[in-house]
Amino acid sequence: MSTRPRISARISAISESATLAVDAKAKAMKAEGRPVIGFGAGEPDFPTPGYIVEAAIQAAREPRFHKYTPAGGLPELKQAIADKTRRDSGYAVEASQVLVTNGGKQAVYEVFATLLDPGDEVLVVAPYWTTYPEAVKLAGGVQVDVVADESTGYLASVEQLEAARTERTKVLLFVSPSNPTGAVYSREETEAIGRWAAEHGLWVVTDEIYEHLVYGGAEFTSIATAVPELGDRVVILNGVAKTYAMTGWRVGWLIGPSDVVKAATNLQSHATSNVANVSQMAALAAVSGDLSAVAEMRAAFDRRRQTIVRMLNEIPGVFCPEPKGAFYAYPSVKELIGKELRGKRPRSSSELAELILEEAEVAVVPGEAFGTPGYFRLSYALGDDDLVEGVSRMGKLLSEAR
Ligand SMILES: Cc1ncc(COP(=O)(O)O)c(C=O)c1O
Repeated sequence: MSTRPRISARISAISESATLAVDAKAKAMKAEGRPVIGFGAGEPDFPTPGYIVEAAIQAAREPRFHKYTPAGGLPELKQAIADKTRRDSGYAVEASQVLVTNGGKQAVYEVFATLLDPGDEVLVVAPYWTTYPEAVKLAGGVQVDVVADESTGYLASVEQLEAARTERTKVLLFVSPSNPTGAVYSREETEAIGRWAAEHGLWVVTDEIYEHLVYGGAEFTSIATAVPELGDRVVILNGVAKTYAMTGWRVGWLIGPSDVVKAATNLQSHATSNVANVSQMAALAAVSGDLSAVAEMRAAFDRRRQTIVRMLNEIPGVFCPEPKGAFYAYPSVKELIGKELRGKRPRSSSELAELILEEAEVAVVPGEAFGTPGYFRLSYALGDDDLVEGVSRMGKLLSEAR
C-alpha cells in the first residue's frame, strides 16, 4: 500500500470557504424548519434585471453560441468591458487588455498565478475577503497582513504598508469598497497609497467589484486612473455579480498589461476555456446598458445600511463603524468575548457566532474568516423585515451577556 498522502499538500492546505459554510449551515437549519435569518451570503437579494435575462434567452437560441468561442472572451464583450471601464473608471484600455473570467473569483486566482513566483510577498489589508489568501497560497506566494481596525474605519495608512514592505514584496492588493468591512478610501488616500506603490515599483492588483455600491458622500476612485505613475503594473479585477445581481451567471474579468493578459489567457485556455456564451451575452447586455438597476439596488442597500448600523450600535458590547460601500457591516464584538451567555462562555467570535446561530437562529460570519477574530460580518443584502427581525433577535440575546 502506498503511504503517499491521498490529497496533495497544496490542496490540503486550502480551507473551506467560511462564508459558504455559515450559509450552508443556516440553509440546513432552515430546511429542518427552523426560522433562521442569514446575514452570511454576499449576494444581492434582487433578481437579475429582465433585459439581461432576455439577452441570455436570445443567445441560447443561436447555434454559434452552442460552440467553443475564444478562451479569453467574446470579442464584443471584451470591447464592451473596455468601453464600460472608460465610462465608469475613466481608465482607457483596449479590448485586447481584457480577459473574461468565470466570475471575479477566477480573475483573483489567475492574477496571482500569473504574477507570483514562490516566496513573492503580497500586502493584503486585513480584514480581507476569504478567497485572497487561498489564491495567493496556491500560487506559491506569501501573504503579509496589514491590519486595520475599527479605530480608522478599517482603512490602512501608507505608514502601515511601508512597515510591512520587504525586499520580497511584489504586489499590493487594493480593495475599495471592501468586503468584509465596507470601507472606502477617499481619492486623496487612494492617490497616496498608489504613489507609494509606484515609488517602490510594486504591482497593484485592485478589486473593483463593488465600484457602484457607495453611499452618502463616499466616492469610488479607481487607483488605476488616479495614479497614472503605476503605468503597466496595475491589474483591475471586476465582474457583473454585485452590480447587476448576477452572482449565479459567473462572469468577471481581469484588465491589465498585454503580457499579463496573454499569460493569464493561456492559463485559462487550459483550465476552463471560454466562459459560458449565454452568460457572456447576458453580461454584454449588462455592461452596455445603463446603471438604473444598480441605482435602485443602491437605494435599498443604503436604507438597510443605516438601519443595521444604528441597531448594531444599540447592542451593549457591539461597536460598528459606518460602512461607506459594498453591502456589509463589520462590527467589533470583542467586549462580549469571554462573557457568560445562556450558560456558556464563548472564547472567540467564532464560538459566539455559533451560539447566536443556535440560540437566536441568526447566522453571521465570524471575523476569523477574514483574518481578524473579534468581529462579525453581516451582509445587509437581505429584505428589510428580515434584517430588523434578525438584528433584534441577536441584540436581545447579546443583552443577556454578563
Ligand atoms: C471583493 C470580492 N471580489 C470578488 C468577488 C467575486 O465575485 P464573483 O466570483 O461572484 O464574480 C467577490 C464575491 O463575493 C468579492 O466580495
